[in-house]
Amino acid sequence: LRVEWDVSRVEVGGFSDFMSKEIDEQPRSLRDTLAGRVDQEGRISLDELNITQEELKTIQKVVIVGCGTSLHAGMVARYALEHFVRVPVEIDVSSEFRYRDPVLSPTTLVVGVSQSGETLDTMVALSEAKASGAKTLVVSNVVGSSMARMADAVLYTRAGPEISVASTKTFIAQIGALEILALYLADLKRTLYPSEVNELIGRLNAVPEAISVALSQIKEYERVAQRLLGYDRFYFIGRNVGYPVALEGALKLKEITYTPSEGYPAGELKHGPIAMIDEQAVVVAIAPKGALYEKVLANVEEVRARGAKVVLVVNEMPAGHMASDDDVFLVPQVHQLFSPMVDVVPLQVLAHYTSVARGLDPDRPRNLAKTVTVE
Ligand code: AGP
Repeated sequence: LRVEWDVSRVEVGGFSDFMSKEIDEQPRSLRDTLAGRVDQEGRISLDELNITQEELKTIQKVVIVGCGTSLHAGMVARYALEHFVRVPVEIDVSSEFRYRDPVLSPTTLVVGVSQSGETLDTMVALSEAKASGAKTLVVSNVVGSSMARMADAVLYTRAGPEISVASTKTFIAQIGALEILALYLADLKRTLYPSEVNELIGRLNAVPEAISVALSQIKEYERVAQRLLGYDRFYFIGRNVGYPVALEGALKLKEITYTPSEGYPAGELKHGPIAMIDEQAVVVAIAPKGALYEKVLANVEEVRARGAKVVLVVNEMPAGHMASDDDVFLVPQVHQLFSPMVDVVPLQVLAHYTSVARGLDPDRPRNLAKTVTVE
């Protein structure tokens, strides 16, 4: 399935800006990205593959490179690749990768994640990986982009054109595509039974609907965002796949509201960042149901005790773990490894609402370009 589009014809429609339109389009973007990936025999297919299946079976290590939001999508995928495929996964910022003399071989798969497929740092990382003999695969939203032409294999996200500088729908689509890659490799390497792969595909296909349910709560998310307007610093915390969601929530808020915001692994707080917590700080904790749920809530206790305003991203009200002035972003529960695609939604809405409320243009943040084609 190929979806071609003409950027000049994209219109904002009934929305106030492209960012809110693109947030709204997320269920469809993910659905389109996942559509048609499984054939009649239940086998997953990728788009353009100049690597043989035999070569892919020999992959011993995966290295993911990207910048900004695309890097965060890659960070999410690392958990799925390690869990489902049982291969070691490294992740690096594209602009750092080339300067650290990475150890690559023909059994390394280097995955470049790039919405535009034109980001220079990621392009150079991929070309250096290729020159050193590694296999390369790109996840891109633009058919025929420079990276798509350069890599050995391509997995397209089908999110449609993203106009707003702040990436939203392509983040979710990138994660969806990378989950497909993880399941494809798991199937090929037989680290999962075909029945397990099918079950996981079914759970992945349920995520667009969960995003729709989250989007139906936008007004409630905005009410929470409104209560946070007076605070001057935000700390986003999460563990496991919640950590890249924390980084992404902080990036969105920085990018379009210029509010100091940081993302941390929740367990790292006591090693330094907790010293910054006071009554002017908001701590947004990403705490989906799962193995580390209680641990994140324990980290929340620590910041609450130091006066922070607490906001929880949770699947249900955490009875017994809340204070009266905590706020909550409720999101539907999905498979834990897929939860970033749902948990990020209220954080996108928080950034968008704050930007508009402060009279800023969320689509055109200062100092930033949609595609960074310089080093
Ligand atoms: C995301 O909101 C940013 N605009 C930025 O971090 C972006 O994700 C980054 O520049 C990478 O772009 P790419 O996906 O086109 O390579």
